[in-house]
Amino acid sequence: LLGRAVAGGVALGAGPVLLGAAERARAAAPGPKEIHLTYGADPTREMTVSWTAPANAHKPRLRFAPAAARTAGDEHAVDSVSIVDRDPRVPKGRWEETVVHHAELRRLEPDTDYVYELMADGMRVRRGTFRTAPAGRAHLHFTAFGDQGTGDGRDTLGAPQGAWIVDQVERRRPLFHLHLGDLAYANLNAAGTRNAGWNRFMANNSRSAAKRPWMPILGNHEIEAGMDQHGYEATLGRLRLPGHNWYAFDAGSVRIICTDAEDWALQKGGDVFLRGYSGGAQLRWLDQELASARQRPHVDWVVLAVHHPVVSSANLNGADLGVRQALMPLLARHDVDFVLAGHDHNYERSFQLGAAEAGSPTLRPEVVDRSLESLDATKGWVHLVLGGGGQKLPTQSYDAEPEQPGEQGRVFDQPGQLLGDGREDVTWVARRDEAHPYGFAEFEVVPGAKRGDMTELRMTYFRLGHGRAGKPVAVDRLTLRRKRG
Ligand SMILES: [Fe+2]
Repeated sequence: LLGRAVAGGVALGAGPVLLGAAERARAAAPGPKEIHLTYGADPTREMTVSWTAPANAHKPRLRFAPAAARTAGDEHAVDSVSIVDRDPRVPKGRWEETVVHHAELRRLEPDTDYVYELMADGMRVRRGTFRTAPAGRAHLHFTAFGDQGTGDGRDTLGAPQGAWIVDQVERRRPLFHLHLGDLAYANLNAAGTRNAGWNRFMANNSRSAAKRPWMPILGNHEIEAGMDQHGYEATLGRLRLPGHNWYAFDAGSVRIICTDAEDWALQKGGDVFLRGYSGGAQLRWLDQELASARQRPHVDWVVLAVHHPVVSSANLNGADLGVRQALMPLLARHDVDFVLAGHDHNYERSFQLGAAEAGSPTLRPEVVDRSLESLDATKGWVHLVLGGGGQKLPTQSYDAEPEQPGEQGRVFDQPGQLLGDGREDVTWVARRDEAHPYGFAEFEVVPGAKRGDMTELRMTYFRLGHGRAGKPVAVDRLTLRRKRG
């Protein structure tokens, strides 16, 4: 049945024509919600399925099997996490709880379709599918954006674009989606509505995240007052990351390295100021991760995801000297292809960049090459701000046209402030979408056929179309090339 359901696509939701009383009761029962997939440490063999069950459902469980196996598979253990929203503005007796169930599926086969079923007593069964990542070099594509919100106007920064973008990303059928932080913005919600905001965020994204992994990095708005785990409890309880608050994984020949910039940022952009909270552990990990990334078999590309931009000319946040102090020495020492950021709510692409300019008080990265379409990846790193995920606060405003004298970007240079007052001349801007704030990037890997071939990592930036059925429009493209390792 499962195999046929997958082969038939639309048959997944279909039931028998004649139902007995027990089946009718089951069909009428509420189903699981907020289903979300994340990779384990090895995306070729590990997937975590996370969901919430209706309040009166008991014994939540999951079973899964390869789609081609024509068996329902065995039931898998579930680890349930209680998240109590201890919002300090709300009396303790009115704190809301959400219980999230996680099933960590391991020892899967690479590049294989699986069917899963979420079950509980008193809950309608929900079937879903996912595909594991390919092992080794493969043609694949993935998407990225940050700064989304819930897509729902009941939430402080919720705007419809945060819902539209889910459907438009899903129609691209990426292998996975990389979420660059500032997820739900629930910390900005009114007292007593943070938990509901989180649930709306999860429900909105599940239209895609139930079918393919959405891999989040942490942003400043994930830090919530009153919550454990440095304020990240609501995020980490709902979204199971493959590692610590920072982690890395392979997607074919791409090493994706995900960081938590709050450890380094001078800006206080969340409810709690976290600068230095890892005691240097994250930076030591990152240095080792960058040093070893290209020694991994099959890795040709290194993508670093960091919520705070290293360069940004937008008139909201801008760059952060603390983040540059952490990252610039590593970007000078290691061979990184893309740095992907959010935090400013717009699209901005840099020229190829290198080490910090000698004598620059803001550690501004030097421009090493101004090619726009076809770039030799070994020359430097390209920085993208991809913060147009759909929140209600677009920031595509700049002081002047790029390359005109006098345009300045902001740099945070004082700790603990909300808005920065440092300034530097803008030198890095290659492209911006000045007409429109919302959109997402798609990355396509063209692996080449054999050792010594050129391999390509192509980036297309899509401006968001209007409405959930809207068509995204490609407004910027570039291709990085390097020799296959
Ligand atoms: Fe942010």
